[in-house]
Amino acid sequence: MSSFVTLSSGQRMPVIGLGTWKSAPGQVKQAVLAALDCGYRHIDCAAAYSNEQEVGEALSIRVGSGKALRRDEVFITSKLWNTKHDQADVEEACRSSLAHLGLSYLDLYLIHWPMAFQRGKELMPRREDGSVCYSDTHYRETWAAMESLVDKGLVKAIGLSNFNARQTDDIISMARHAPVVNQVECHPYLSQADLLSHCRSVAVCVTAYSPLGSGDRPWASPDEPSLLQDPRLGAIAQRYQKTSAQVILRWHVQRGVVCIPKSVTPSRIQQNLQVFDFSLSEDDMKQIESFNCNERFIVPTVERDGKRVWRDAE
Ligand code: A2P
Repeated sequence: MSSFVTLSSGQRMPVIGLGTWKSAPGQVKQAVLAALDCGYRHIDCAAAYSNEQEVGEALSIRVGSGKALRRDEVFITSKLWNTKHDQADVEEACRSSLAHLGLSYLDLYLIHWPMAFQRGKELMPRREDGSVCYSDTHYRETWAAMESLVDKGLVKAIGLSNFNARQTDDIISMARHAPVVNQVECHPYLSQADLLSHCRSVAVCVTAYSPLGSGDRPWASPDEPSLLQDPRLGAIAQRYQKTSAQVILRWHVQRGVVCIPKSVTPSRIQQNLQVFDFSLSEDDMKQIESFNCNERFIVPTVERDGKRVWRDAE
C-alpha cells in the first residue's frame, strides 16, 4: 500500500498528514516539529485556525535550503476563509497565509467552505443576536480568483472543502484548473460513501478531516457518541494489536481516503503514522463501513428562532 496518492495535477500527496485545527498556540509548533521528525511530509493548515504563524515557526526550523528537509519534500495545504471569498480579497488572503507559514508557495489551497461571510477582519462576523452575517458572493466567482493563484505560481493546485457533490460538479463545469481535492468530514460514523464514489468518478481526491471523530471539537457534548471509545473498534484493534485510532486511519487509507489526524501529543502523532505495517481484512473493512450512521460532528452553527447562529452563542 503506497503512502502517497497521485492527484489529478500529477502531485504526490502523502495519505497521512498532520491536522492543525484546534491545536492551541504554544502547542502546535512542537506538534509540527514532532510530526516532521517522525516522518510526516504533509501538514494541513488554514487561516481560520489562527495558528499558521506558529506552524511557520516549526517549518522554518526544518524545511528549506540547508535544513533537514527540502521544500519540495513536504506537502503544505492551507485554506481560504469565508470572509475572503470576494475576488478582491483572495490573493491577499493567500499571501497572508504564505507570509505566516514562511513559504513562497503552497502545494494546495482550498476554499474552506462553499458559503461566504461578510468581508472584513472578523473571523466569525455576527449580529448582536448571534446570527451569522453571510454574503452573496458565489463560490464560482471565488474559484476564478483561486485559479489566478495557480497562474501566478503562488499555489501548485487548488481544491474544495465542505463541498457536496452538486457543488463539486458546479466548480468542475466552469474550471480552467480542476479542483484536485475535496476535504470533508469523514470517519466511520460518517463514511461519506456516496460523495466518495462521486468524487472518485470525477478525479477529485477526498481528504478526511476529523478522521478520528474529533473528540476535542469545541461543542462536544457527553451525550454524543465517542468514536475512539467505540468497543466494536476496540475489539478489532485488539485482534490486530493496534490502537483504535490506527484501525480507523488504516480503514481510511485502505478505502483511498487521505486523512489528517490532529494531535499535539508526540506519542500519538507517531502512532498515527504507523498504519502501513498491517492491513484490515475485507470483512473488517465492511464491518467498520457498517458503523456509518451519518453522524456529522462538525456543525458549527445551528438554527435558532429561524436564524442561523454560532453554536457558542446558543
Ligand atoms: P491530542 O491532540 O490531545 O493528542 P480528529 O483528528 O478526528 O479531529 O481528532 C483529534 C482528537 O483525537 C484530539 O483530541 C487528539 O488528542 C485525539 N487523538 C489524536 N490521535 C490520537 C490517538 N492515536 N489516540 C487517541 N486520541 C488521539
